[in-house]
Amino acid sequence: MNRPIIALDFPDRQGVEDFLSQFDEKLFVKVGMELFYQEGPDVVTWLRELGHDVFLDLKLHDIPNTVESAMRGIAKLGVALTNVHGAGGQLMMEGALRGLEEGTAEGQRRPQLIAVTQLTSTSEEAMQHDQLIKVSLAESVRHYAQLAQASGLDGVVCSALEVAEIKGATSDYFVCLTPGIRPSGSQVGDQKRVVTPADAHRIGSDYIVVGRPITQAENPVEAYRRILTEWNGDN
Ligand code: C5P
Repeated sequence: MNRPIIALDFPDRQGVEDFLSQFDEKLFVKVGMELFYQEGPDVVTWLRELGHDVFLDLKLHDIPNTVESAMRGIAKLGVALTNVHGAGGQLMMEGALRGLEEGTAEGQRRPQLIAVTQLTSTSEEAMQHDQLIKVSLAESVRHYAQLAQASGLDGVVCSALEVAEIKGATSDYFVCLTPGIRPSGSQVGDQKRVVTPADAHRIGSDYIVVGRPITQAENPVEAYRRILTEWNGDN
């Protein structure tokens, strides 16, 4: 079974503990900036000790040497997946990958590395105005995906609606991780272009990230199981 990645968007470890205590299975979870900057790397070590797989979503973006060193440390935490901003450029992405390779202990698997292309919160207008990028948003996303592929990365974070275009511009094996997932009939919240788990499966997403539809559900375990089933195409 492919597990949806649960976004652990809690302000502290206590919130995570309360949430996880309801589950008796090993999960695939996402630790983002909010939790990481409160609790530090220990929270990742703790989740790994509990047997959960971790996507460390810190979106690194700095000079290549700094990102390489940071990634060396991240690899030592034993995460399954982590990411950088494609806007950091090819040298930075190559450095990130090198850092992960160097930091991965022998016999262990290197964490998969994916790039953020354009944040989904960025509109075409804002991109053109703020970043002085004159092409369309779709073209910029495609460019960053191809740059990530040329840098040796495993894939990108993208909207499920961009998956076909990105795989067409790269390869079927280029990983597309997609947030903005809402099971049919649930609250959309502040997400704009949402896709159901079943649609994400049909579209070809390799991973889905789901936060509030599980973490804020009245019965998180039930919500998780429903999404797990839908995502695996068994509905
Ligand atoms: O609660 P919800 O399902 O909207 O959470 C989605 C998670 O994915 C959040 O942690 C959010 O920060 C993250 N994310 C996103 N859109 C992106 C990248 C990350 O929603 N483009």
